[in-house]
Amino acid sequence: MSSNPNLAPSRARITVPQVANRKVRNGTDPLVMVTAYDAPGARIASEAGVDLILVGDSVAMVVLGYDDTLQVTVEDIAHHTAAVARAKPLPLIVADLPWMSYHLSVEDTVRNAAKLIRAGAESVKLEGGRKRLRMIDALADAEIPVMGHLGLTPQSVHAMGGFKVQAKSSESVRALVDDAKALAHAGCFAIVLEGVPSEVAALVTEAVDVPIIGIGAGPDVDGQVLVYHDVLGLEDRVSPKFVRRYADLKATSVAAIGAYADDVRTGAFPAPVESYHLAADVAETLGLYGRAG
Ligand code: KIV
Repeated sequence: MSSNPNLAPSRARITVPQVANRKVRNGTDPLVMVTAYDAPGARIASEAGVDLILVGDSVAMVVLGYDDTLQVTVEDIAHHTAAVARAKPLPLIVADLPWMSYHLSVEDTVRNAAKLIRAGAESVKLEGGRKRLRMIDALADAEIPVMGHLGLTPQSVHAMGGFKVQAKSSESVRALVDDAKALAHAGCFAIVLEGVPSEVAALVTEAVDVPIIGIGAGPDVDGQVLVYHDVLGLEDRVSPKFVRRYADLKATSVAAIGAYADDVRTGAFPAPVESYHLAADVAETLGLYGRAG
């Protein structure tokens, strides 16, 4: 931070305790989280002023071309987390623990989370409710901040029978509220709540003291998260109801690469100003009259 009073104060990095205190009912602004998977994405998210960057396992679907998130490994997430961290973004970096990285044993869970922290993450996210308490306790013991993820949990795609809205019966709503309370009690500093009716998200948000960050969970939560490629319109194959596109970068990119291809084919690119040239005397010595710049 500059001590010169004439300079605008520089923004500071966002920390886990700052995020944990962001409850809208206490008068704070909603949290803004977006995914990013590489250094340019992290710089864009940081300059746009978001609060959290999620290196999500959605990288499997929007970057790596898989049909679900089950294919990515700890090494994949560590690789993308390191790229994000190298940009030194101001938002808090949350890295997803991928499927099967926190299901087998607490030792495995802590070791895998540590790989993501060493890659540059400042916290990790895992999916599931009360059945994950042992793992969350172990991560807390290892001083690794944990974000929970409830509702539509994409790593359970087969168990759920597809990417379907969750918590539609009174029984499942009660179970969801109990799961959220258990995660908050275990020390999760925030919880992502995905794909549930708005009324249910409002209930869950009311029930816990940690921020609930919604995706497809309506407006009555403590923040929102969206996938980078959805926000920017880079992903145009599917359009879930909850996504709002703020740009159409896929169409812009196709047009730009198409224009480049046309220019190469017609000889319009590169122009003399986009080329390097020999000094005139050297060109003359080589008999290249009229071709040097
Ligand atoms: O991986 C991801 O992008 C996520 C969000 C959908 C919350 O987990």
